[in-house]
Amino acid sequence: MAQDKRVAIYPGTFDPLTNGHANIIRRGLRMFDTVIVAVAADTGKSPLFSLEERVAMAEKVFAKEPGISVEPFQGLLVEYVARRNVHTILRGLRAVSDFEYEFQIALMNRKLRPDIETLFLISDYRWLYISSTIVKTVASLGGDVRGLVPDHVFACLRDKYGFPHGEVEPVPLPPVPDLAELSRLAELEAAAKEDSGK
Ligand code: COA
Repeated sequence: MAQDKRVAIYPGTFDPLTNGHANIIRRGLRMFDTVIVAVAADTGKSPLFSLEERVAMAEKVFAKEPGISVEPFQGLLVEYVARRNVHTILRGLRAVSDFEYEFQIALMNRKLRPDIETLFLISDYRWLYISSTIVKTVASLGGDVRGLVPDHVFACLRDKYGFPHGEVEPVPLPPVPDLAELSRLAELEAAAKEDSGK
């Protein structure tokens, strides 16, 4: 059977889906016609949301984005990817600390199925510090996680926890810096360093 090269599978526990995940998924769509968000049943974690809830949350978030589909999977990731006749696994890298873990998983997956590649996207700097766990911890204590998760996920967290401690005012996220401005600042910094070295 011919492989469908224009499809990537983005796996995770998504307990819950965060804006960090959504960012990788939407950027994945620039390279692939379809990104399948694969929600893992077996992850060794004890999820707050059931598998059905995690799938339903992601489905609702991407309901109006035709290139993105959501499905649950069980068992080995590479076996599921092969069954779907896909050969690319999409992953996000947030920090150096992710690297070792991702390296290990990608190599193991490659050993199991050399025909399946893992493609990494560097996380947007706005989401470098978030994980599903930190979002849940903050939400469970009544902290405001708006802007860190899609609105629908925020509503689901609110239903789960009831936000017993009230809410704090959301802090606006910093704007994404302009790349031209960043490189201009880097040049200025380099020039200043050179001057001070003279
Ligand atoms: N933005 C924000 N957060 C991110 C992120 C991003 N771009 N990418 C990852 N994260 C978070 C996740 O939410 C997760 O948070 P948590 O630990 O608080 O739940 C954490 O970073 C780790 O993410 P990840 O490595 O993607 O773990 P995961 O639990 O979401 O998914 C599977 C891991 C499902 C891909 C993996 O367990 C798997 O493949 N399981 C199937 C069984 C299998 O094949 N095992 C063998 C693999 S070699």
